[in-house]
Amino acid sequence: MNYRFAAPSPGYLIAPSILSADFTRLGEQIAECEAAGADWIHVDVMDGHFVPNLTMGPFIVEHVRRVTSLPLDVHLMVQNPERLLKPFAEAGAGHLTVHVETCPDVAGILKEIKSLGCKAGLTLNPVTPAADLTPALPLADLVLVMTVHPGYSGQAFMPEVLPKIAEVRKMLDAIGSAAWLEVDGGISAETISRVREAGANAFVAANAIFKHPDGIAAGIRTLKQALGS
Ligand code: DX5
Ligand code: ZN
Repeated sequence: MNYRFAAPSPGYLIAPSILSADFTRLGEQIAECEAAGADWIHVDVMDGHFVPNLTMGPFIVEHVRRVTSLPLDVHLMVQNPERLLKPFAEAGAGHLTVHVETCPDVAGILKEIKSLGCKAGLTLNPVTPAADLTPALPLADLVLVMTVHPGYSGQAFMPEVLPKIAEVRKMLDAIGSAAWLEVDGGISAETISRVREAGANAFVAANAIFKHPDGIAAGIRTLKQALGS
């Protein structure tokens, strides 16, 4: 698979979350994201147990894989994520991100993700302390900090998580890690610069992009403008 994981020129990434896409026009909407300069496509997988909502399985990833060359950034909000790694990797996921709350052996699962040829991501809920990342942090290719309680798009950004983003940035810098620091939940033109100032460099957004009144390209442009580029 040919895609970029290194930093594009502005030094940050935009990852539209298809959770807010119009699924009757998913292929078209992903093409619009790609044309508008999206870097990754974020896929929210929810199992109805770890989070109340139920969303997409490997079948969707397999179809999305066919319509874009962008990396598929798969966010697993599921209990027992280990059973789903292989199916999602085979379906074409580029990154597999697991919640620390769901993994008794975080280092083991990150190694398994890498052995499947994917980038390994680690994420934590708003109430989970950054310290829970410590044992496996050197193995992470990306760390995703949730700024809403996971489950739905369109929720309000939780500013109380900003200090934790700064803390994770310090932890990554302290070990010399070049992992992406991604933020997910309530990212908009109003909140994105605050999360960047706290140290994030990859930004997931669903509603701000797919529900922008002037369309997807305007949504992406507005986020980039808010970052000053
Ligand atoms: C929330 C998901 C997010 C969600 C973001 O559980 O993990 O990726 O789609 O939606 P917005 O950007 O609308 O808050
Ligand atoms: Zn997500």
